Amino acid sequence: MRAASRTAAVLAGLGGCLPSRLVTNTELAAYLDTSDEWIRGRTGIGARHWVDPGTSTGDLAVRAGERALQAAGVDGVDAVVVATTTPDRLCPATAPEVAFRLGLVGVAAYDVAAVCTGFIYGLASAAGMIAAGNARRVLLIGAEAYSTIIDPKDRTTAVIFADGAAAVVLRAGDADEPGAIGPCDLGSDGSNSDLIEIPAGGSRRRSSGVPTEPEEHFFQMRGTEVYRHAVERMSGSARSALERASWCTADVDRFVPHQANGRISAAVAERLGIAPDRVLANIEHVGNTAAASIPLLLAQGAADGRLRPGQRVLLAAFGGGLTWAATTVTWPDVAAYADPPGEPGTDLTEADLTEPRTHRSHRRRSAMFQQLKQILTSKFQLDADEIDPSSTLEELQLDSLDLVELALVIEKEFGARVSDDELAETQQLDAIIGLVEARTAKV
Ligand code: UT7
Repeated sequence: MRAASRTAAVLAGLGGCLPSRLVTNTELAAYLDTSDEWIRGRTGIGARHWVDPGTSTGDLAVRAGERALQAAGVDGVDAVVVATTTPDRLCPATAPEVAFRLGLVGVAAYDVAAVCTGFIYGLASAAGMIAAGNARRVLLIGAEAYSTIIDPKDRTTAVIFADGAAAVVLRAGDADEPGAIGPCDLGSDGSNSDLIEIPAGGSRRRSSGVPTEPEEHFFQMRGTEVYRHAVERMSGSARSALERASWCTADVDRFVPHQANGRISAAVAERLGIAPDRVLANIEHVGNTAAASIPLLLAQGAADGRLRPGQRVLLAAFGGGLTWAATTVTWPDVAAYADPPGEPGTDLTEADLTEPRTHRSHRRRSAMFQQLKQILTSKFQLDADEIDPSSTLEELQLDSLDLVELALVIEKEFGARVSDDELAETQQLDAIIGLVEARTAKV
């Protein structure tokens, strides 16, 4: 008898979001002692996206999460996990508010703090919840507004770090199926916690009481030392993950390294024996987006065809802590909606950001109901007082030909194709609006 396969977390949809403000190397070189040549030569970065003042990590996370849910074709999950270095506030976690704004009210929600390794730590955490039976579906988001913590005058960090968010929906499935997240190799070295840090603001050097130097509230990195650790740890972790998945390097069709520095990715790939044409990158266009880096590259790669079903994919990350992690996945046939690399990102308008999605959705639905009511009164001479969201087409005494007419008007007025049979089946006006809304939903 064949042994039952282990329950695994399986990729069901991906979404990515970049803020619309594109910052080129030339723009930075206008006020920092740096140059396009230095930044490209040392890191491979040509431009990055930064949020406008007032836009937060949570704002980016909501948009990425929305897109991932849509790509997965689901509107509910059991848990929301946000991996971030730049939470909206120190307390509470960012995830509960993101969940609320996504309309996922009441679900488990927490943050993972593992800096640039956060997404793979988040994968391990979400997979654990699913394997233990505590969740059937998890929305995992890697989101960063790094531009809010870097010292704009520090050329060693300001040219590297950037903003963005990307999310995956994970569902309970079978360890043998495409999309199943493989064993995760996770590690840390706290003896080097000061190589990447924000010295002040936490409980060790708190922001109230004794005044601290302003620089201590900014992100700091000892780059050259970090570089050496990054190459060694990412290579080691990738080897462990491959071994635990019973894969060898030759099995790897696509290597998706954390986008810390193009030269780190190349050095790790070379150590592992992975050819450059199998290494995915977007650092030239998005810089280092920390916890968002790997999911953003996955979402963009899946959306533009660089990742295709059946390919064996190796993920590896390294970050502050120090922390490192790696895992494997055979790419599934899955949808992904993301802002493409090298193009303007998403315009996150103020109204869109501050109004919870549930409220927006409620407002949109009432406007749609008013429009439908107008159609019913003018076209079918119905009494407006008798029409409310719970009314059914039968109660309103619309016959089968009326439904054909109604379907045509709905298509004309709302731009949504709904058949008369579907109207007859759905019956209730509120449910019909839901149907129309789903057909007209924008990514
Ligand atoms: O994502 C989490 C993990 N992060 C990483 O893995 C990042 C790892 N580190 C790195 O990628 C590299 O260390 C950096 C790209 C950050 C820096 O490269 P580096 O070769 O280690 O530069 P460095 O700090 O040793 O500086 C070399 C020189 C220095 O000038 P002097 O002292 O030789 O005159 C710096 O002041 O380059 C200078 N420098 C710059 N020059 C122009 C540093 N930053 C810049 C800059 N533009 N932006």
